[in-house]
Amino acid sequence: MPIRSINFGCLYAPCMLKFNGGRMREAIYPGSFDPVTLGHLDVMKRSLDIFDSLIVVVMKNNNKKPMFSAEERVALIKKSAEEIGIPTEKLKVMSNSGLLVDFAKECGSTVIVKGLRAVSDFENEFQMAAANQKLSPGLDSVFIMTRAEYMYLSSSIVREVSYYGGDISHFVTPSVQEAVKECYRRQNG
Ligand code: PNS
Repeated sequence: MPIRSINFGCLYAPCMLKFNGGRMREAIYPGSFDPVTLGHLDVMKRSLDIFDSLIVVVMKNNNKKPMFSAEERVALIKKSAEEIGIPTEKLKVMSNSGLLVDFAKECGSTVIVKGLRAVSDFENEFQMAAANQKLSPGLDSVFIMTRAEYMYLSSSIVREVSYYGGDISHFVTPSVQEAVKECYRRQNG
């Protein structure tokens, strides 16, 4: 029956991924994270319910001019993960300036995790997933639907609201809030 098979998939797919014949499953979560938001952190937390460990990797998006350096973004992700209680022993945070498929190969990982918000994300994500799979056929992308409360949230919203002096405490951790404020303070002399 169709309903039964849908239930089976929902209930058991994460366990099947996690136990994978006794092997540890490590996934990669790439992104710009400029800066990391509560939406990103929620995807990290939920990825760790499915996978044994997660490598969060700050990568270069050629279409974006970053506010923070890669090192600053890595530090903010580590600090924010601690702040919201993500088990840090299961989380590695690093940066890489190359191709995602090469990084995945170096790590020996076959799964990319991405968060998916609205339909507007879909086309770009679908294109990247297809290109990555073409470049590295063993590499698959898994999409985690963003929680409804974070559907609107993006790093660019955080930067924009903060630029005009708005309150970003609902969007990011206290350490990111401070770092964004400090960045604009420096810029404005
Ligand atoms: O958070 P973003 O900006 O949507 O993440 C996009 C990112 C950084 C994951 C993507 O641009 C990327 O993978 N960059 C690394 C270079 C690469 O592999 N590009 C080809 C992707 S098809």
